Amino acid sequence: MKLILKLSGEHPELPKEEIKAVFESENLTWKTVKMLEKERLLIIDVNTGDARINEIINRFSMVKYAGKFLGIYDKNSFHDSLHEIALEISKELKKNESFAIRSKSQSLAEKLGAAIFQLGFKVDLKNPNKEINVFITEKYFIVGVNLHLRRDFNKRLPKVRPFFHPTAMHPKLAKLLVNLSRAKKGDRLLDPFCGTGSILIEAAIMGMECYGFDISARMISGCKENLKFYGIDAKLFVKDSLNIEEPLFRKFFDAIVTDAPYGRSSRLPYGNIEKFCHRFLEVASRLLKDNRYLVMVMPKKVEISNKKFKIVNRYSLYVHKSLTREIYVLKLN
Ligand SMILES: C[S@@+](CC[C@H](N)C(=O)[O-])C[C@H]1O[C@@H](n2cnc3c(N)ncnc32)[C@H](O)[C@@H]1O
Repeated sequence: MKLILKLSGEHPELPKEEIKAVFESENLTWKTVKMLEKERLLIIDVNTGDARINEIINRFSMVKYAGKFLGIYDKNSFHDSLHEIALEISKELKKNESFAIRSKSQSLAEKLGAAIFQLGFKVDLKNPNKEINVFITEKYFIVGVNLHLRRDFNKRLPKVRPFFHPTAMHPKLAKLLVNLSRAKKGDRLLDPFCGTGSILIEAAIMGMECYGFDISARMISGCKENLKFYGIDAKLFVKDSLNIEEPLFRKFFDAIVTDAPYGRSSRLPYGNIEKFCHRFLEVASRLLKDNRYLVMVMPKKVEISNKKFKIVNRYSLYVHKSLTREIYVLKLN
């Protein structure tokens, strides 16, 4: 099916990289039909039907709108083709279903709405069965049916959870990291520095089997409290993630996603981030299955000296004036 996606403007590449990673993890092939850079609108063709699409699009953290793509029309010919466009839209409406046209141009919405109305469908601007969106770009009008992305990050912000710590990550970033790890439903995912549980919460909501380690018993108990608050189940352990020897966890995980300890409010073992990183990757290479991904956030760029991992990608993400985070996507050889 064809989709129209409005990408977030937070980063030039990450929204597309996340989409690519999600489709890869879901074993779906897709291709770009058109990308309108200025408006950040991406039209894609993906080999899945309506049944799975909602679950898949709701994995995206950096997509602001998702709709079923109906057509792209040259601005000059749109008004002449109004009747044909209305016919095309009407195929999406079941008998007795109401609709609303949403567009920045009120007159366009009214004209298109009237053409569909004439085909026998009810208008309901407040509570329509189907919401039709018309995006206006420099050259085109693009029509889609809203698939109503679930946007509920506010319910999981660090400050609304029962256990708070200043190092807690925003759920949107946590979800992005999980997606970049190519983990899918049922996969075993580990956050070895889990803190308050931000990453585990997002991964569990997407159906992964979650494991969390933290050296601090206080963090693990707070993390438990947070997970319970959302009715989430995860296996949590007080552990030093730089010294994990248990044979049980050897090649056990399908994905490792984490936020390295740093800064004043979080302990940085090994003092030097490069040394810490090398040591951690050594441990991670024993826990992670071969050819699987490790995604980690670092407070600054680091030299990845551990040759067991290949750097797939690295991104700098601006968080606020004094904080930029480096996201590393690594693949175990
Ligand atoms: C940046 S915080 C993680 C924050 C987490 N992503 C969240 O959203 O709450 C890093 C965590 O690593 C833990 N930590 C530090 N050294 C550790 C080690 N050697 N093994 C396991 N956990 C460690 C700290 O206790 C801290 O909770």
